[in-house]
Amino acid sequence: MHLVLLLISAKPVFNKMYWFILNRINHICQKTIISMTQLSGKTALVTGATRGIGKGIAIKLAQAGSNIAFSFASSVEKARAFEQELAAFGVKAKGYQSNAADFAQADILVDEILKDFGALDILVNNAGITRDTLLMRMSEQQWDEVLDTNLKSAFALTKAAMKPMMKAKAGSIINITSVVGITGNAGQANYAASKAGMIGFTKSVAKELGSRNIRCNAIAPGFIETEMTEALTPEVRAEWVKGIPLKKGGSPEDVANCVLFLAGDGSTYITGQTINVCGGMVM
Ligand SMILES: NC(=O)c1ccc[n+]([C@@H]2O[C@H](COP(=O)([O-])OP(=O)(O)OC[C@H]3O[C@@H](n4cnc5c(N)ncnc54)[C@H](OP(=O)(O)O)[C@@H]3O)[C@@H](O)[C@H]2O)c1
Repeated sequence: MHLVLLLISAKPVFNKMYWFILNRINHICQKTIISMTQLSGKTALVTGATRGIGKGIAIKLAQAGSNIAFSFASSVEKARAFEQELAAFGVKAKGYQSNAADFAQADILVDEILKDFGALDILVNNAGITRDTLLMRMSEQQWDEVLDTNLKSAFALTKAAMKPMMKAKAGSIINITSVVGITGNAGQANYAASKAGMIGFTKSVAKELGSRNIRCNAIAPGFIETEMTEALTPEVRAEWVKGIPLKKGGSPEDVANCVLFLAGDGSTYITGQTINVCGGMVM
């Protein structure tokens, strides 16, 4: 009897809880459906996606429903395994061995993607390398390798990708630069020059292609935990982290979240910008 009275008097509380839980579930389901379908039907090319930031970007875009074409330099086995991983998100995925530093290969790559996927809506120029050394010791080869892989690749692929994007009267191009392209860095004259060049390139492309509804933006990551930064000594890493207001390195997913925003409809009035994803390291 007491229990019945207790349950009756507590009914409004249970009712409130019931509706609260139901509301939360509904909210989470809606959010999941929106993020799974945000880019559905689109095709994205992510260069250099067998590891690190490129891999994180490809996964994020696939989770949002985009078909994924990705390129790599030499990691054939990793690329085949990654195709399977991406396909598990229910999208079409294919890796292409294509040297980003080779101008002629850009056209071939885009042609193959158009044959395989029928469209190209999003281009993420991510492939990049470092050949760090002080200017006094830097060889012409170290300079050329970095400039060709990081900067000339963006020129070649943007030039190739803009044709189908112009036909479609839509497109989003996202260039992965670096905070070092803004601040400069001792021992990275080649790398900093390539990344600063990308920022100027991004603004010029935004101005040239804006009237065609093709947007071009850059993302400048700070210290992101990947194989590229694994090569640094613990002392150098600690020094970097000291200068970051959020007191930690970023993850590929942190960069990928920004790519997702710039690739999708949430950013249709944003072009020619460089967004720093760096825990506040550069302001
Ligand atoms: N990590 C950071 O802290 C950081 C900070 C700022 C900016 N970034 C920029 O973010 C981008 C990705 O960096 P990450 O740290 O993820 O690098 P990463 O771990 O070294 O991965 C580089 C990726 O690029 C590919 N690649 C290298 N050279 C290539 C070429 N010539 N043609 C095609 N693909 C090529 C590699 O393919 P293979 O596996 O076949 O070699 C790999 O998939 C780079 O542009 C980098 O400059 C990184």
